Amino acid sequence: MLDGIEVSGAILDSVRDATDKYVASGGRRPGLAVVLVGTDPASAIYVRAKRKDCMKAGITARDIDLPADTSQQDLLDLIDQLNHDDDIQGILVQLPLPPHIEETAITNSIKSDKDVDGFHAFNVGRLALRQPGLRPCTARGIVTLLNYYGIDSKGKHCVIVGASNIVGRPMGLELLHAGATVTTCHRFTTDLEAFVRQAEILVVAVGQPGIVNAEWVADGAIVIDVGINRLDSGKLVGDMDFELAARKAAWITPVPGGVGPITRATLMQNTAEAAGIHIVDPKKSQD
Ligand code: GUN
Repeated sequence: MLDGIEVSGAILDSVRDATDKYVASGGRRPGLAVVLVGTDPASAIYVRAKRKDCMKAGITARDIDLPADTSQQDLLDLIDQLNHDDDIQGILVQLPLPPHIEETAITNSIKSDKDVDGFHAFNVGRLALRQPGLRPCTARGIVTLLNYYGIDSKGKHCVIVGASNIVGRPMGLELLHAGATVTTCHRFTTDLEAFVRQAEILVVAVGQPGIVNAEWVADGAIVIDVGINRLDSGKLVGDMDFELAARKAAWITPVPGGVGPITRATLMQNTAEAAGIHIVDPKKSQD
């Protein structure tokens, strides 16, 4: 099992250590603005968890909750204020936004060196050109997770299912950067099964269970499940059938307790780094 709770705890500890030392030597404690527009229940849960992680990481959270009918201009004005606020080193606007707000306009309005989600076109471009600045949290966190367990993706065939801006696309760039051979599958891929069967590392980020059949997982594959889906029963599950995939996989992330906490811890790492604090990726101790 690739234990997201253990790895996120190790990341949060190293961020906390580094920020506390930075503050003790006279630095300003990093501040993260966490902006939630509307009342989407899943988003509210994610945002609450991010605010809690700020406390664990020694980062000051500024909670900003706005009504669902907030205009795009009012949100742009708020971001402009935060861009100029010296107490704020990171700005996170939880997605998805209500339909009357254009997400791209918002993500590109955040000052690129406060863009701790790494979604600004400038930061995505830097990642694509191997000049990484602030990097999207889920993809970066998965690289940290693989490194933590000593899994080298160099030369491996990594298959990513899902081509979203938030996960699939940056994941492909990160793995390419690490020397992997990368295939990205998406809704127009014909014969998804043939690609999944070839995957030495499989990253599934579809956002809906049942698209990737766990029977297709190759023996000894490494399976990273990014999905978080709530069943009618209330149970949280990933995009893959965990029990079935775990029978084939050498390593697998659970849901919950896998990629989710690592994404949030990486957000804290990005925020500390945006404040100019250097964080070293944690590694599993060999004893
Ligand atoms: N919604 C789903 N994932 C994310 C994320 O990583 N950041 C933000 N801001 N919104 C999200």
